[in-house]
Amino acid sequence: MPPQWILYLTILTCCCPAYVICQPYDYPTANLSTRWINSVSADHSVNFTDLSTVRAILLRGTFGPRYACGFYCNGNCDTYLFAIFIVQTNSGGGITSPSIGFPQVVWSANRNSPVPINSTLELTAEGDLQLRDAGGLLVWSTNTAGMSVAGMNMTELGNLVLFNARNMVVWQSFDHPTDTLVPGQILISGKSLTSSVSLTNWTEAGLFNLSMTPKGLVGSVESDPSQEYYENLYRGTKQNKEASYAKFQNGSLQVYINSVEPGNPDFSLTIPAAKSAQYMKLGPDGHLRVYEWGAGWSEVSDLLTGYLGECHYPMVCGKYGICSNSQCSCPRTSANSGSFRQVNDRQPDLGCSEVTPLSCKAPTTQSFLDLEDVTYFTFSSDFEGTDMDSCKQACLLNCSCKAAIFQYGSDSSKGSCYLPSQIFSLMNNEKDKTHYNSSVSIKIQVPPSAASPASETVFPANVVGKKSILGPVLGSTLGISFLAVAGLAFYVRWRKRKDEVEEDYLDHVPGMPTRFSYEELASATDNFTKKLGEGGFGSVYEGTLKDGERIAVKCLDGVGQIKKSFLAEVESIGSIHHVNLVRLIGFCADKSHRLLVYEYMCNGSLDRWIYTPTSLDWNLRRRIILDIAKGLAYLHEDCRQKIIHLDIKPQNILLDENFNAKLSDFGLSKLIDRNQSEVVTTMRGTPGYLAPEWLSAIITEKVDVYSFGVVILETLCGRKNFEFSKPEDEAHLLPLFTKKAEEERLLDLIDSSCEGLESNGAEVLKVMQLAAWCLQGDHGKRPAMSVVINVLEGLQNLPKSLDYNFFNPNISAHKIQPAASQLSTPLLPSILSGPR
Ligand SMILES: *[C@@H]1O[C@H](CO)[C@@H](O)[C@H](O)[C@H]1NC(C)=O
Ligand SMILES: *[C@@H]1O[C@H](CO)[C@@H](O)[C@H](O)[C@H]1NC(C)=O
Ligand SMILES: *[C@@H]1O[C@H](CO)[C@@H](O)[C@H](O)[C@H]1NC(C)=O
Ligand SMILES: *[C@@H]1O[C@H](CO)[C@@H](O)[C@H](O)[C@H]1NC(C)=O
Ligand SMILES: *[C@@H]1O[C@H](CO)[C@@H](O)[C@H](O)[C@H]1NC(C)=O
Ligand SMILES: *[C@@H]1O[C@H](CO)[C@@H](O)[C@H](O)[C@H]1NC(C)=O
Ligand SMILES: *[C@@H]1O[C@H](CO)[C@@H](O)[C@H](O)[C@H]1NC(C)=O
Ligand SMILES: *[C@@H]1O[C@H](CO)[C@@H](O)[C@H](O)[C@H]1NC(C)=O
Ligand SMILES: *[C@@H]1O[C@H](CO)[C@@H](O)[C@H](O)[C@H]1NC(C)=O
Repeated sequence: MPPQWILYLTILTCCCPAYVICQPYDYPTANLSTRWINSVSADHSVNFTDLSTVRAILLRGTFGPRYACGFYCNGNCDTYLFAIFIVQTNSGGGITSPSIGFPQVVWSANRNSPVPINSTLELTAEGDLQLRDAGGLLVWSTNTAGMSVAGMNMTELGNLVLFNARNMVVWQSFDHPTDTLVPGQILISGKSLTSSVSLTNWTEAGLFNLSMTPKGLVGSVESDPSQEYYENLYRGTKQNKEASYAKFQNGSLQVYINSVEPGNPDFSLTIPAAKSAQYMKLGPDGHLRVYEWGAGWSEVSDLLTGYLGECHYPMVCGKYGICSNSQCSCPRTSANSGSFRQVNDRQPDLGCSEVTPLSCKAPTTQSFLDLEDVTYFTFSSDFEGTDMDSCKQACLLNCSCKAAIFQYGSDSSKGSCYLPSQIFSLMNNEKDKTHYNSSVSIKIQVPPSAASPASETVFPANVVGKKSILGPVLGSTLGISFLAVAGLAFYVRWRKRKDEVEEDYLDHVPGMPTRFSYEELASATDNFTKKLGEGGFGSVYEGTLKDGERIAVKCLDGVGQIKKSFLAEVESIGSIHHVNLVRLIGFCADKSHRLLVYEYMCNGSLDRWIYTPTSLDWNLRRRIILDIAKGLAYLHEDCRQKIIHLDIKPQNILLDENFNAKLSDFGLSKLIDRNQSEVVTTMRGTPGYLAPEWLSAIITEKVDVYSFGVVILETLCGRKNFEFSKPEDEAHLLPLFTKKAEEERLLDLIDSSCEGLESNGAEVLKVMQLAAWCLQGDHGKRPAMSVVINVLEGLQNLPKSLDYNFFNPNISAHKIQPAASQLSTPLLPSILSGPR
C-alpha cells in the first residue's frame, strides 16, 4: 500500500493551512504491486450532496477542477465504476464537496458491469491493471501483463497511462473512449463515442454512436443496419486515410483527414473558448454537448444542433413520432388517424406505437400510411431508378422493412428507394419541401376488425330492462317497442353466431390492454372489498396492481347480456387513448367472469363535486367543461371509427388528482363508420340527458352534444337536472333555463357557493349560451364538439340567435306530450345507471 494511503487518512477533508507543504496531496502515480480496496474506510473518500461518492486512487495537481481516478458511484452506491472523474480540489489538493458541481465522470472501465463495495483494483507485479469484484472475479483488465509496464500515471490532461521503464505509453484510457472527450484528447479513425442508456443508467447499450471514420465524423443510431443522422465528411480526393482523427481543442473540435499539419484541420466545429475545465459528451439523446465548470457545470455548446436542427435527432419524438417545431405527434392522415397512438399520453416525445403490431405471418393484410409533408432524417438508397409503387412493393415483400421511403430523382417519375428496418422519429417537412424531395410511406398492419367484411351492429346489453322501464312512458310509441323487439331478436341471433368465436378472439386481440386472470384481480382488489360505486353494468372496486399502480376494477355481472357490451368496451376503449378519456389498462375474461381494469381516478366522478357545495371554483369548472369537450371531440372527430358515447352525464366524468376530467364508461358506446352519419338504433342512455331525437330513433353524435349541454348547466348551476325536493316550477332545470333566458336573468341560476362564478358573469353567461346551443332541439343546429372547443377557447363566436325551446318538433310528430310531461315522468336517473 502506498504510504500516502495511510498517511492522510485523518486529515483528508481539511483545508491545507498556507504554511503546510501541500505536495503530498498530489498522488498522481502508482508503482507495480499496488492494491486498492473499494471500502467505506478507504482514503480520499468523499460523499457529495447528489449522493454520489468518490474514492480517489490517483489525483494530479492542486486547486481547482482536477482529474482523478478511482471508484465512483452515482447515487446508487450498491455498485461502483472504476472511473476517471473531474473533481474540485482545495488549495491543499483535498477533494472538496461543494453543494453544486458534483464529480463528472469522463471515462470508466466497467460501465457495463459496475462492481460492489469491497471490490479491488490492482496493478499487478506483471504490469496488468485488474478490477475484481468482492468475490475476486475478474471484471476488467488492461491485458498488459508481460508488457514491461513500470507504473501508472494520471496525467494533467485526464489520461490514465500505464508506462514502461523508458516512460513510454503501454496502455492509455484515451485509446478507449466511452461517451466523453476531454480537451486534448483525440479520437482516432475507427474509434467512436457510444452514448449510455439514459442519464441515470450508464450502461453502454445506448442508441447513439459518434464515429471517427477515414472520411470524417459520422453520428449514427443503433439499428440493423445502423442509420446515420450526422455526417461531416471530407470530400477531397487526396486522402491520408489511416491517420485521420478528431481532436478536442480549446475552442474547437478539429477534424484532420488529409491535413497532417496541427492547427490546420480539414474542418472543425467551433466551441466557446474555455474559461475553465470542459468536457464533451455524447448524450443518451444523441446530442454532442460541451460542458464547462464555473461554480457548477453548465452546457456551453450543443455542437451538432446548429447543423442539424432539433427535429433531426432520431429519438427527438421517439419511435414513429413526427417532429414539427420540436412538437411531437403520431403518424396519421385524413383517412387514417387510428394506426398509431402515443406510447404515453402525457409525454408525446416518448413516441408512438402501432395499434396493430406488424405481423410477418400476415403480410397479406399489410398496407401503407402515406404521410404528406414528412421526411426522414436519413436516406440510404436500396434501389435506384425505380418508382414509388415498386418501392412500396419491395417493402411489402421484405418482412424486416418498416417503411418505403422514396426520393425523387431529377427525372421526376423515377428515383431511389430506401427500406429501413426500423423507424425512429420523422420530421415535418411542410416548410422545407425543396430540401428533401421525398415521400414516406409507413407499413401498417390492417387490424382484424377492419379486415372483416361488415361492421358490427352493437345493441345495448340491458335492452330488456330498459324497455320495461321505458314501457309506460313510451308504450304508445309502437315504433320504439318494435325496434327494441326487433333489435333483441337480432341480438340473440347475432350472439348465437358469435358466441363460439368470441372467447378466442379476445385472446388474440393485438395491441390490446393487458389480460388479467380473475385471481390476479381478486388479489389486487383484496377480494373485492373496497367498493367505489355501483352502476347498471355492475360494481366498481378499488385495487392496486403488483407494480403499485392504482386501479378501478369494474365487475360486469350477468354474462349473457354483458358479454356483448364487454366486448364493445374492450374493443373501443382499448384502442383509443387520449388525456381526457379514462384509460383502460386491462380486462379479464376468465370463465364466466368479465371485468374491466381502468386507471384509478382519485377524485371520483363529477357528480360528487357539483351537486353539493364544494371548493370547485370557476376556473376548475371551466377547465373541466373544456376537458369533457376535448374527450368528446376526440371520440367524435379524431378516432378512426367515430364513437358516440351515448351516456354523457356527471357520473361518467371522472377527475384525477389534479382535477383533470376524463370520460369513462363506453359500455353504451357504439361504433359507426365515419361515412355513416346517421344510424337507426334503439334507445338508450340516461333519462334527463337524452336528446329529443331519441324518440325519432335517428341517432347521431349530436346526442352526446345535447347531453354535454345538460352537463354544462348542471356544472354551472350546481344542481341536478331533476330535483324533486325543489318547488314544482324549479324542479326541472331545462324549463327553468328556458324561462330565465326569456327573462334575461340567466345568471340567477348559477351556483352561489362557487367561488368566481359571480365575478366572472360575462364569461359564465357565454358558457351558458354555449350550453343552449348544445341543447338545440334540432340536432342539425347543435355545434360539433370541435366548434365547442373553439368557443370555449375564444376562437369562435356563438351564433346570434339561439332557440331556447329545446324540444324538437319530432316529438309532436310522434304524438308525445310536450316536453314538460316527458320530464315530469318518474324516471330517476339512478334506475338505469347510477355512478359507475
Ligand atoms: C515507486 O517506486 C519508486 C522507486 O522504487 C519510489 O521512489 C516511489 O516513491 C514509488 N512511488 C510510489 C507512489 O509509491
Ligand atoms: C459516506 O457515506 C457512507 C454511507 O452513507 C458513510 O458510511 C461514510 O462514512 C461517508 N463517508 C464520508 C467521508 O463522509
Ligand atoms: C467489506 O469488507 C469488510 C472487511 O473485510 C467487511 O467487514 C464488510 O462486511 C464487507 N462489506 C461487504 C458489503 O461485504
Ligand atoms: C505522468 O504524466 C505527466 C504529465 O501529465 C508527466 O509530466 C510525467 O512525466 C508522467 N510521469 C511518468 C512517470 O510517466
Ligand atoms: C440499464 O440498461 C440496461 C440495458 O438497457 C438494462 O439491461 C439494465 O437493466 C438497466 N439497469 C438499470 C439499473 O435500470
Ligand atoms: C458505431 O457505428 C458504426 C456504424 O456507423 C459501427 O460500425 C460501429 O461498430 C459502432 N461502434 C460502436 C462502438 O458501437
Ligand atoms: C482558451 O483560449 C482562450 C483564448 O483563445 C484563453 O483565454 C483561455 O485561457 C483558454 N482556456 C484554457 C483552459 O486554456
Ligand atoms: C419533387 O418531386 C415532384 C414529384 O415528381 C416534382 O413534381 C417536383 O418538381 C420535385 N421538386 C423538386 C424541388 O425537385
Ligand atoms: C430485407 O431488408 C433488410 C434490411 O432492410 C435487408 O438487410 C435484407 O437483405 C432484405 N431481405 C431481402 C430478402 O431482400
